Amino acid sequence: MSYINKTNSGYGTLCLHYMVSMVRAAKQNWFILVLACVTSVLVLRHLAAISDLQLSRMLLNGDEPETVVGTDIDGEKTQEGGGMVEDNKPNETVFDMDNREPAFKLVTRTGDKPPIDSDRAYGKILDELHLQETCQQDPSTVVIDVGAGLGTFGLYAAACGCTVYMFEAQPDLVKLIRSSIRQNSFTSPPVNVTQRAVMDLASDTTIDFAPPEGAGGDTESVSVETIRLDDISWPSQSIYVLKIDAAGTELNVLRSAKNLFAQRRIRHLFFEYTPWLGNQESQKNLLSYVRRDLKARFMYNLYRTEEIFYGPLVPMHFPTLHDRVSQSRTEADIYVLLDGRATKSSINSQPFPMNNR
Ligand SMILES: *[C@@H]1O[C@H](CO)[C@@H](O)[C@H](O)[C@H]1NC(C)=O
Ligand SMILES: *[C@@H]1O[C@H](CO)[C@@H](O)[C@H](O)[C@H]1NC(C)=O
Repeated sequence: MSYINKTNSGYGTLCLHYMVSMVRAAKQNWFILVLACVTSVLVLRHLAAISDLQLSRMLLNGDEPETVVGTDIDGEKTQEGGGMVEDNKPNETVFDMDNREPAFKLVTRTGDKPPIDSDRAYGKILDELHLQETCQQDPSTVVIDVGAGLGTFGLYAAACGCTVYMFEAQPDLVKLIRSSIRQNSFTSPPVNVTQRAVMDLASDTTIDFAPPEGAGGDTESVSVETIRLDDISWPSQSIYVLKIDAAGTELNVLRSAKNLFAQRRIRHLFFEYTPWLGNQESQKNLLSYVRRDLKARFMYNLYRTEEIFYGPLVPMHFPTLHDRVSQSRTEADIYVLLDGRATKSSINSQPFPMNNR
């Protein structure tokens, strides 16, 4: 009965439980049955997070929901007669990520919410990249997700049919990503998750990896091996997207792919710009580094809250953007088109505001 202690949904769940019992008791009496169904639907509409699928499944089977927003993996496996499949299964909840096509399943630790905010930002950028069309035309299209977290971005790319490499240093998150891969019946290859920290150190160096304070998730230090993006033999000459969410170590990640950038093998880059995390000194130069050393063709700042792209950014904007983001501590997303031949970008943007917004 793991749902009882979900404080924010406790009442809804009890109410739901009651409704389901009513439906069961009312089998003989169609009037009460219809009334109960209508009332249940009204109540369930208030619990916005319940999907129609789950709702109809519950009404059909009279099953009690294990959780209000997700499906307990344990519950599912037990019904299939699978029993205990893996040690930490009772802690895992599956979300249907169906706010854009193609939908996929995301496994989280029970009680945690999926990272909707960053997901929205990725969605906005992905609209611009036509990822699904691109990967359906050519399934060898490579997408790299560094700092995969729960895998929100990499799993979406996998659902699009791309060849996906996810890198995540924290073992707990890697376990959840592996569960997600199983839930979606993805196979490896083309979907690969590696428990490593991407760094510009010699590959296979063991480091103590601790996400900086404020980066979200576990901050416990783990011992992990490093890997350079330049040391991987990629299955394709060109890499369509490199996404980085490295909580302040973006520069290290980018430097580990020096040759890939020099050979112009990476087409689109986007990263979460959090210059108040990690080595703050080196991050002052991050945007200039991307512009000058990586030969960015066009750079944009996605302002998450309003889903507006500002840009194209020019060096004059960098100090203002750096200071603004550092002071307000709001995540900024930077999208970079690296294609050297591009003479214009299709991004629908607004001029970067130099005054305070
Ligand atoms: C479930 O999570 C809790 C808290 O994170 C942890 O203490 C416990 O060991 C986990 N249980 C399993 C079976 O992994
Ligand atoms: C997954 O990628 C890693 C490199 O990060 C590679 O060493 C490994 O062989 C790949 N696994 C599969 C199944 O392709």
